Amino acid sequence: MQLMNNLPDQSDEQVQVKTAAIREREAALSRIVMLFIGTGLAFMLMPGTFFGVWNLLSISNKHMADSISAAWIQAHGHAQVFGWIGTFILGIGFYSIPRLRNAQPFALWEAWSCWALWTVGVSARWAAGIYEWNWRVLLPISASLELLAFLIFFRAVSTHKPEGASQGRPKFETWIFLVMAGTLGLLGTLAINLAGCIREAIHGSSPAFSQSFDQSYLVLMAWGFIVPFVWGFSARWLPIFMGTRASCNRGLLIVLALNSAGVAAALAGVFRVAVILLLCAAGLSNIALRVQTRSIRPAKTNSVHTAYPYFIRLAYGWLVVAAVLGVWAAFAANPEGIWGASRHALTVGFVSTMVFALGQRVLPAFSGMRLLYSPRLMGASLYLLTAGCLLRVSSEVLAYQGILQSAWKVLPISALTELTAVTLFAVNMIMTFRSKRLSTILVEIDRRIAPAGSTRNAVNL
Ligand code: HEM
Repeated sequence: MQLMNNLPDQSDEQVQVKTAAIREREAALSRIVMLFIGTGLAFMLMPGTFFGVWNLLSISNKHMADSISAAWIQAHGHAQVFGWIGTFILGIGFYSIPRLRNAQPFALWEAWSCWALWTVGVSARWAAGIYEWNWRVLLPISASLELLAFLIFFRAVSTHKPEGASQGRPKFETWIFLVMAGTLGLLGTLAINLAGCIREAIHGSSPAFSQSFDQSYLVLMAWGFIVPFVWGFSARWLPIFMGTRASCNRGLLIVLALNSAGVAAALAGVFRVAVILLLCAAGLSNIALRVQTRSIRPAKTNSVHTAYPYFIRLAYGWLVVAAVLGVWAAFAANPEGIWGASRHALTVGFVSTMVFALGQRVLPAFSGMRLLYSPRLMGASLYLLTAGCLLRVSSEVLAYQGILQSAWKVLPISALTELTAVTLFAVNMIMTFRSKRLSTILVEIDRRIAPAGSTRNAVNL
């Protein structure tokens, strides 16, 4: 729309040609978004969640957290974080970052080749962890492909200059800093992943990172990459969709500084300092984003589940729970179950709830102006995810820490509840992609209601 308004005075024919080109590119970009989101959903369902459930059922069966191989656990984590969340972020980034920067369009082959390299890289990593087939070769290859895919993405969305850039320096809003920090975090995570893979390939005895390396790497991956991205998208979209007041920019910069310091401390191995800094960042992000305060405008709930703003508030509550559990774990004598609960409060409670709530709000529009297939399925997925996460976080502490034996029986229930939630989310997104575009529906209505010979129609209304 913005592009259309920018068209200078031209002949009708020129305008028509340009409009057709813009439409064609929009359609191509929508196809790219759907490809990335569809691939992310596939990683989320099978190598990610289904395998996570399998792992948890085995652990619950044996009543022992370390009863399954570290390579399997890490394969699950990698599939979820890079296969699901990473693929979503790349797809959304290709679609939205150039247009938000008002930048010149990138070549479409860049998006396609990024997708191909990323998908092969993440799949190869999963196969290396699970089947251990040629893992000494596959590990570094998969990490290199992922890094290469990221570099193509980065080049495509950042090097094409904003239109009219020569007339002055582009203005960076605070949310862009957060997204840039998340992008740097992703780059750092991929670089450290490659270094770790090369080290394991040369010196390791299995395709799994050592526990101490994995611990710091997980903090970088979660707090250095995913969390700043979610903060950035929240600062950009929550005032529009939830009707909240605009975020406090200075507060967000302090949040970013605290968070970066926390990640740096974790990388240096000073976990007790790291967790306190991350807790401060998590708490302050609730205030700076004004997410828990009353909305000043009605939330945009058309065609989605009306309770989604409450789930966004809940997700930010989970972020604080994750950080509090992290502090407890860093100071506890035997922290395994507490770390697990903290990680789960973050990945499922915060990240997945945000993806379910905000993703189902914006992705149908990004995929060619469609309407969400079913607001009720959206509601069901959010309620089930919340119930599953609550059961998992509470029973993981109770069971793994040996506080309550019967909590082992609750863990499989939590896993199946979450599996159902992610399946409903995936079904809703796939059915949305299969549905007709809004413009096609309008044209059909138009044909049905317009009396013969009438020039007034639904599309022109
Ligand atoms: C149905 C949902 C899920 C189940 C049943 C599940 C299960 C598990 C299990 C059993 C572990 C082993 C450690 C522990 O006991 O805590 C684990 C670790 C992990 N999970 Fe999940 N998970 C789920 C969802 C997710 C999601 C949505 C993400 C990310 C977006 C995620 C990321 C991770 C990560 C990063 C690890 C740590 C891997 C490592 O140690 O390197 N999980 N998960």
